[in-house]
Amino acid sequence: MDAIDVIRAKRDGGELSPEQIDWAVAAYTRGEIAEEQMSSLAMAILLNGMSRAEVSRWTQAMIDSGERMHWSALDRPTTDKHSTGGVGDKITLPLAPAVAACGAAVPQLSGRGLGHTGGTLDKLESIPGWRASLSTIEMLDVLNSTGAVVCAAGDGLAPADRKLYALRDVTGTVESIPLIASSIMSKKIAEGTGALVLDVKVGSGAFMKTHRDARDLAETMVAIGTDHGVRTIALLTAMDRPLGNAVGNAVEVAESLEVLSGGGPSDVVDLTVALAREMLAAAGLSGAKDPADALRDGSAMDVWRRMITAQGGDPHAPLPVARESYEFTAPFAGVLTRLDAFGVGVAAWRLGAGRARKEDPVSFGAGIICHAKPGDKVAEGAPLLSLYADDVARFPRALEALEGAVEIVEDAVPDPSPLILDRVG
Ligand code: URA
Repeated sequence: MDAIDVIRAKRDGGELSPEQIDWAVAAYTRGEIAEEQMSSLAMAILLNGMSRAEVSRWTQAMIDSGERMHWSALDRPTTDKHSTGGVGDKITLPLAPAVAACGAAVPQLSGRGLGHTGGTLDKLESIPGWRASLSTIEMLDVLNSTGAVVCAAGDGLAPADRKLYALRDVTGTVESIPLIASSIMSKKIAEGTGALVLDVKVGSGAFMKTHRDARDLAETMVAIGTDHGVRTIALLTAMDRPLGNAVGNAVEVAESLEVLSGGGPSDVVDLTVALAREMLAAAGLSGAKDPADALRDGSAMDVWRRMITAQGGDPHAPLPVARESYEFTAPFAGVLTRLDAFGVGVAAWRLGAGRARKEDPVSFGAGIICHAKPGDKVAEGAPLLSLYADDVARFPRALEALEGAVEIVEDAVPDPSPLILDRVG
């Protein structure tokens, strides 16, 4: 087979055959297709799209480039969640223990943050001693003993995706729905989960800015999951404002602990419970204990403590706190009509909570606490946001990111917008 023939076929709007797809992905992973040729093929896919058969086969080829995990040794069904990423999205932290407390096993491979959205592993690493890297045997041990594990994906999982994603990042080919969908789903299917719930974020702080694009991505991912025998559903959820009040690492762990203690912001609780119910239903456990009860009765917190301890963390240790803080106050009284997720995400990133390059460290204590959310009445001079950083020199650029992100209207009528926008599957 010849790379140029495959590129030409896609460039001219044709459908790639299963053999062409298998060969292209495998040969690229082995280094037998040059980066410039794969870059050209990725651009042709971005411009001309892929049929359902093509995108499913492309996903299979990416899974086949590495190992596929199996959890048949467990005595309960597996179910997992993937979020396309957002600002203040700490949902995995209360969700995985809540679902485990209701009888399912949650084998979750998570990532680190890059840019304005945070990563689950960075948040969990703010817990003293907690370790993200586990072998498959260790994962199985933690799953067996606690019901949930959240850890980093090993190098053996979908290596074709790792190579292709790095190439797409520097060739303007990230924003292709078939390439995004196959990238996410190859890792989730290789992880071996039996059921999967996708939280596809929509809005300024999300990858997908419009409902239409988010729905298109959700439908493509649900189709891939279904074609691979994984019961998959998707919820489209709002990311025009941050989720919850805390944005950062340790501050998000602290907020998750409130949720695991039966409290916490209502949007975090509502989304945790909605996703948990979907995960249990997809795993065939709809009649099981309700996750809202697991948050209230302490059973989810019990799983959390055991899960953190099993990965070397001390669930009772104090969390890191930033050295410096700055209060952003309301200039006049009114209704907060806008707290833009992207602006708040960039501000938290500039405070040190996120990284600009993969190898950069993050500050565990840095971040933002929102004291009001869109729709809330605010008094003149009332604190709107508390900013935290290890160095005061970080505040001016963070404040620049917030310019235009906050809007107060004197006589507006509070108009709460929905959190869950749509469902696919
Ligand atoms: N996340 C992924 O894992 N892959 C993409 O292509 C985009 C976001």
